[in-house]
Amino acid sequence: MSSNDKLDAEHVERLITAGTAPDAAVAELVDELGLDTVGEILIDEIVFRCPPPENTTAVTIALEVVHGVRRRRTLLRVMRDEPISQVNGDGRAVQMVLEIDVLDLVRRIFGPVGHRRTGDFRNAFLPSGLEHLGYLRDTALATDTLLSGCGNDSVDLGALAVRYGSDKWASLHWYAPHYEHHFERFRDHPVRLLEIGIGGEDRELGGASLKMWKRYFHRGLIVGVDIFDKSLLNQRRLTAAVADQRVAEELAAIGDLYGPFDIVIDDGSHVAEDIRTAFHALLPYLRHDGIYVIEDLQTSYLPEFGGSAGEAAEPYTAVGLVKQLVDDLHFQERASAADQPPTLTQACVTGIHVYHNIVFLEKGTNGEEGFPHWLRQLLAGPGHS
Ligand SMILES: C[S@@+](CC[C@H](N)C(=O)[O-])C[C@H]1O[C@@H](n2cnc3c(N)ncnc32)[C@H](O)[C@@H]1O
Repeated sequence: MSSNDKLDAEHVERLITAGTAPDAAVAELVDELGLDTVGEILIDEIVFRCPPPENTTAVTIALEVVHGVRRRRTLLRVMRDEPISQVNGDGRAVQMVLEIDVLDLVRRIFGPVGHRRTGDFRNAFLPSGLEHLGYLRDTALATDTLLSGCGNDSVDLGALAVRYGSDKWASLHWYAPHYEHHFERFRDHPVRLLEIGIGGEDRELGGASLKMWKRYFHRGLIVGVDIFDKSLLNQRRLTAAVADQRVAEELAAIGDLYGPFDIVIDDGSHVAEDIRTAFHALLPYLRHDGIYVIEDLQTSYLPEFGGSAGEAAEPYTAVGLVKQLVDDLHFQERASAADQPPTLTQACVTGIHVYHNIVFLEKGTNGEEGFPHWLRQLLAGPGHS
């Protein structure tokens, strides 16, 4: 990472933190970083968040971000089948002006979920393009697209999976509702998420799920690792790094550099041994209260992925790991627990939620004592010691 990229990443992190800070702290940060730097980061984020435009003729929207007497104007061209782009010009072709105070925009982008839809923008609807019959509708569609990008609440995860092309919903897999159920509590937090397996292998760039997570966690820092170099995906809040999940040291290096993580997802090779290697290597880099997800448990039953050929999943598979973790969760109940210190998994895996083909493992303090020895003796009656 170049020193400029590092500085930029630091600015983004500080703005994310400012999303929930008092107005005075946000204003101070904008003064320190400058309206241009802050404006550029916010516009970049808005363009990323916008859904695909639906207007069939091009609409130019001027977004004016204001801070005291200073003002930063960006012209954005919005049109179906085109990426939203910044354009130069004197503003004569502008159909809509949207003006917003930078503090309100920081809140919309990096604040808690549920921004205001109106009441913080000023707008001017201009007659440029009146000769075109669909002018009103196209301007409204384009403005709606941009306003959707200026916030954080339109996040149906299944729809995002489909938008970015991830197979986590409505195609090969049906994971989105499980993810929403377990990840909802993180939505307002500046989470760090690591996903093993970026997608596309050596044939395509991939990155569908990383973009989906970036959109879903509007304050999140998203890191993906793959055996293939996918650094062309790098953008603000999204890093694509190279690591092989078969090599614990490579994953530890990722943990040292980008962790600790609130969420780790294994959607990599799906080979039994690799899943176990990654789990044991990354568990120390998962925060207390974090979640470790393993996708595609079905490979535990597929010999070509190192799975079992028989009816029941063998101990060396991912499902075997889950079964072992159920025992570990209850280690205090076993007689041997008193004699030895707990293993890492015994000490910190506190919840195991298994669904069809996917498991969510919760990390915390597995500290409840076992069923008391004295009570067992009492229940067993006189004569038992
Ligand atoms: C199923 S795809 C990931 C899809 C992506 N998570 C998504 O939902 O859009 C699996 C990816 O894992 C990568 N992969 C395979 N073996 C790996 C390994 N040993 N270490 C890291 N990544 C690996 C592949 O290159 C491929 O890009």
